Amino acid sequence: MAKVLILSGAGLSAESGISTFRDSGGLWEEYDVSVVCNYDSLQKNEALTIEFYDKRRAELSSKEANRAHKVLAELKKNYGEDIAIITQNVDNLFEKAGLSNGEVIHLHGFMTELRCQSCEEVFEIGYEKQKNFHDGFCPSCSSKLRPNIVFFGEQAPLYEKLSQHINDCQLLVVLGTSGEVVGVNEMARYVGNSILNNLEPSNAIEDSLFSKVLYMRATEAIDEIAETIEEFLS
Ligand code: APR
Repeated sequence: MAKVLILSGAGLSAESGISTFRDSGGLWEEYDVSVVCNYDSLQKNEALTIEFYDKRRAELSSKEANRAHKVLAELKKNYGEDIAIITQNVDNLFEKAGLSNGEVIHLHGFMTELRCQSCEEVFEIGYEKQKNFHDGFCPSCSSKLRPNIVFFGEQAPLYEKLSQHINDCQLLVVLGTSGEVVGVNEMARYVGNSILNNLEPSNAIEDSLFSKVLYMRATEAIDEIAETIEEFLS
């Protein structure tokens, strides 16, 4: 497993123009999570939920990777398996920065994919609306498709991979996440050698547990973060 674990959240993509969830003006100020991102959203509000993801998927087409994505992607290319890139983000900006799907773990799913609600096959649909892909039905088994996103209250199978990487890593980098969903305090306590980069303190994060704390934009912090990682791996 990797020596360095880089865990990111919505703050990493904020400077690419993708709104975070909990910052002021964030996504959850405009939409009610319980309506469009809950385990029962597709049963209770199918049309609104699909519309919400169709809109976010379409928006992605004009968003570009920022310098923080590009620096992290370059580190992953240079150091391979020594670095694990795990993100809570469902956008494709790491992929636009040059990483393949296999080089990034998307804990909460991936916006440009649909998943069959029965056979679970996953389909890459780019920025299209769900209904424009085989009328929203699985080409393999004809069941209904859904966004390949982990909703609140649903299983997040890739958390298993996250805990494996936490066990093995010797340097933890937490970037652009409030820690409200994926708790990072225990990770920092366990790993011991860690960097936190956010815009400002978060109620869910005990920043005294981190070896280095950078309260600034990710694109400003990324050079110091990259330098620390390269020193550690050299
Ligand atoms: N650079 C660095 N950090 C930033 C920037 C930036 N330019 N802009 C915002 N941040 C930080 C904020 O300080 C905040 O701590 O990013 C964090 C964003 O927190 P959230 O909006 O809570 O996003 P995130 O932690 O990714 O949410 C986790 O919650 O809604 C669910 O599934 C969704 O994956 C998401 C999860």
